Amino acid sequence: MARQETHVVGLDIGTTRTTAVIAEVNDDGRLEIMGVGTAESRGLRKGVIVNPDAAAEPIRRAVEEAERMSGLIAESVHVSMSGTLLRGLNNRGVIAITNADRRITRADIKRVIETACVVTLPGGHEIIDVQPQEYIIDGQDGISDPLDMLGTRLEVAVHIITGPITVRQNIISAVNRAGLLVADIVLEPVAAAEATLTDDEREYGSAVINIGGETTSLAIYQRGAVQHTAIFPFGGSHFTNDIAFGLRTPIPEAERIKRTYGCVLPTLAAENDETIEVPSVGRRPPRALSRQLLCEILQPRAEEILGHVNEEIKRAGFERELSSGIILTGGGALLQGLTDLAEQIFDHPTRLGYPLGVTGLSEETNSPLYTTAIGLVMIAHRGRLGRYYRAMSAPGAISRTAARVRSWLANFF
Ligand SMILES: Nc1ncnc2c1ncn2[C@@H]1O[C@H](COP(=O)(O)OP(=O)(O)OP(=O)(O)O)[C@@H](O)[C@H]1O
Ligand SMILES: [Mg+2]
Repeated sequence: MARQETHVVGLDIGTTRTTAVIAEVNDDGRLEIMGVGTAESRGLRKGVIVNPDAAAEPIRRAVEEAERMSGLIAESVHVSMSGTLLRGLNNRGVIAITNADRRITRADIKRVIETACVVTLPGGHEIIDVQPQEYIIDGQDGISDPLDMLGTRLEVAVHIITGPITVRQNIISAVNRAGLLVADIVLEPVAAAEATLTDDEREYGSAVINIGGETTSLAIYQRGAVQHTAIFPFGGSHFTNDIAFGLRTPIPEAERIKRTYGCVLPTLAAENDETIEVPSVGRRPPRALSRQLLCEILQPRAEEILGHVNEEIKRAGFERELSSGIILTGGGALLQGLTDLAEQIFDHPTRLGYPLGVTGLSEETNSPLYTTAIGLVMIAHRGRLGRYYRAMSAPGAISRTAARVRSWLANFF
């Protein structure tokens, strides 16, 4: 079996599904998916691990399946995080460059990010992630890597993710209990964006909307960096519950009906207005219903979810900044008609987000269901290529729970 250094592992611990992906760099230098594994999640509520013991078992099963398929061993993993208590905020830091030759060093970059991380947090909260957006040297903005450049004043703009200390601790605890180490923790929509966005979309303005089982998350990109993030407490399971309630059918049947016949645009449903046999609760006989009726149940919910996200985009001031449009991804985005409805609601071109930039995708993995896990291996791979990450691949770097900004920076450089 190959050694750990040759491959990277992504672990998407979703509310409904836990997905592991193992990828390796192939002879062409491209990242190739070697193995995947999935298991029904346990111990999560609205994207957050509330019971690490329960969450550990599906993690172990998903990772073992990916190991078997790839013939590779997972040791440390890049993990996704989500939850409505996570907050994204933008901040800036500035320092004077005092070296005799005014050449910017790694230590200067570390120091300026540290100054940008000085924010007031509620008790029990911490900074979980920091994403540099751009550097500004002596007033010149739009610099993505200031190392070795000359200047007297270095500024940085960053996007900071904060959240309750327990969010990160419970992720580490569940992963450790599954016998693995955490190499890094990445906000879910940031991982999904990594896998789905083209360079132009990242540059000219786009919004990735990841619709999961119990959460929907948003990441807005512009000028090559994340500008705004938000997580909402609704997702695909709301559609299932609406069907179960509206058609008085058990949840598993409602889920099946949603995936097979679900549609959120009456015009699409009218094109193919089959009758659906709906099993009843208890001993009552099944009933026949039209697809049109199913659409009438699902459409208002879809409008409500997408409407909320649209309000957030407007509130954040990006309504007119998304010239590259909207990218819907995550399992919930597979509902028929959703991209067309989204295009009407957001008034921007909208597409489904599939994983880009990796090889070895199968029919199963070439799907919005796998974008977060694949984004995680891409981020892991990028980290391994260098830039500021360097020490990040030290296994267990984040398995010690006391770490905060300082140790985050230590890992980062
Ligand atoms: N073909 C389909 N049509 C409609 N919905 C689907 C389809 N396939 C999966 N889904 C829905 O996708 C959701 C799961 O998506 P995903 O795996 O991205 O969520 P998760 O990561 O487990 O949850 P979260 O991101 O909220 O923590 C479920 O609600 C499921 O019903
Ligand atoms: Mg998810």
